Amino acid sequence: MSGKVVIALTKGRILDAELDVLARVDIVPEEDPRDSRKLVFGTNRPEVEVMILRGADVATYVEHGIADMGMSGKDVLLEHGGTGFYEPLDLGLGKCRIMVAGLKDEPPLPSRLKIATKFTNTAKRYYASRGIQVDIIKLYGAMELAPVTGLAHRIVDIVETGNTLKANGLVPMELITEISTRLIVNESSYKTKFEIIKSIIDSLEGAL
Ligand code: PRP
Repeated sequence: MSGKVVIALTKGRILDAELDVLARVDIVPEEDPRDSRKLVFGTNRPEVEVMILRGADVATYVEHGIADMGMSGKDVLLEHGGTGFYEPLDLGLGKCRIMVAGLKDEPPLPSRLKIATKFTNTAKRYYASRGIQVDIIKLYGAMELAPVTGLAHRIVDIVETGNTLKANGLVPMELITEISTRLIVNESSYKTKFEIIKSIIDSLEGAL
């Protein structure tokens, strides 16, 4: 893959939007990744390949230069820490927020809160920046259940429509950050494959 530019995409519900953005700059996989178990695809452009990864892995592949570019949620980038790549473009896809949420009818809480989240680094940074000591409990999904069952007092999670919170008797309380899908580029690829990468960034920017 050395001479080629490899673009890592996030599989799942954001993939449609990512493929749509690429199609707008005339990069179309030879086969529809949504109908295939393959993970790497050639495209209509001989110099471009796409790779389909779990969201949490896009930054890792781009950091190590296996993928030259990637499309990744800012939530994942904040957790990853973000070294070895640039973040030249906000693609504006998958817009949502990372928020603190808690029970609608919250009982009196202790001074040291238990916070359940899969965004442990983001949550730690947020509370540290406010000088608040908390205990973070790492979960991998269904965060909303934690305050309901008493596992934690509050959660730090993605809120898009707010429907999941509402359905579980929770309310959004504090905005930590706005989230959207970002284009990331490996730092050394940006130098060694500058012309093609720059032209893709420019066309994506024009297409947005
Ligand atoms: C996210 C998040 C919430 C939900 C919020 O989960 O963890 O559960 O979406 O969306 P809403 O505000 O529109 O209800 P997702 O479906 O991405 O699954 P996950 O548990 O794998 O994170």
